[in-house]
Amino acid sequence: MTAGDAKLRAMSRIILVPLGLLFGFKPMEIPGVEFSGVVEELGPGVTEYAAGDRVMGTTTGLARGANAEFVVVPVRSRMGVLTKLPDSLSFEEGAALPVGAMTAWQLLGKAGPLEGRRVMVYGASGSVGSCAVQLAARHGATVTAFCGAVNSDMVSSLGATRVLDYKSQALSEAGAQDVVFDAVGKLSRGACSPILVKGGAYVSVRSPTSEKVYELRYLVRLASEGRIRPFIDRRIRLEDVPEAHRLVDSSRKRGNIVVLID
Ligand SMILES: NC(=O)c1ccc[n+]([C@@H]2O[C@H](COP(=O)([O-])OP(=O)(O)OC[C@H]3O[C@@H](n4cnc5c(N)ncnc54)[C@H](OP(=O)(O)O)[C@@H]3O)[C@@H](O)[C@H]2O)c1
Repeated sequence: MTAGDAKLRAMSRIILVPLGLLFGFKPMEIPGVEFSGVVEELGPGVTEYAAGDRVMGTTTGLARGANAEFVVVPVRSRMGVLTKLPDSLSFEEGAALPVGAMTAWQLLGKAGPLEGRRVMVYGASGSVGSCAVQLAARHGATVTAFCGAVNSDMVSSLGATRVLDYKSQALSEAGAQDVVFDAVGKLSRGACSPILVKGGAYVSVRSPTSEKVYELRYLVRLASEGRIRPFIDRRIRLEDVPEAHRLVDSSRKRGNIVVLID
């Protein structure tokens, strides 16, 4: 369950359904984009997978999403990404990793090398933020993180060297930074310019990203080696998905919410 799922739900009636009617594409029929599971059946010509394989990925761009018992995903297409789920990762971890980790990794990539640099992650307790902290720290950066005080221990445990409370501490308390990563879309480039060094990089989740299966495979490898872990805050049943949407809408989601299906 991602923040994007809630945004798509909110947009669908007022924007996506009318656009779909106008331009003839199908708006989302089943919500949710991240999944993990076991291959039940293969389509014609699929040789990369076998029935019984553990897999994970996304259904991004498909009308029928991942909040379901069965998902149908194209193996070779620009819609969604699919890869094998190593035995060292649980199904829950496989379903929680893709969007947060791919988004964080792609945006960190735009900021340049991480080794030896100072990286500030703003909004570090969300799905993207919690992955950005881990990825930057594991790639040799010194991470300063901003989050709510209640999430300070969680964010420290992910590898942040300093954790500051965005509600009571000024941005300037972070000190000079080589990279600012806005993980919640609430910090403008202008607001952080006083702490960014000359030539420093600002990246934000407000920039679009695209899913790349080779990036997902790299991130899965890091996770299977125990170098990163998707932070799972809650596990809910499929029938409780509306509750998860309400939590995302409240802006208080921590890390990831995993939808369990028997
Ligand atoms: N560009 C892309 O391709 C892409 C992909 C995925 C997601 N996104 C976007 O990235 C954003 C983050 O998504 P997400 O799932 O990681 O997390 P999220 O659920 O949107 O964010 C939850 C976290 O945001 C923190 N937060 C709320 N208001 C804040 C504020 N004013 N300042 C700092 N932190 C604040 C909360 O922490 P506290 O409780 O500690 O305050 C909470 O832990 C969303 O807007 C999403 O749409 C973009």
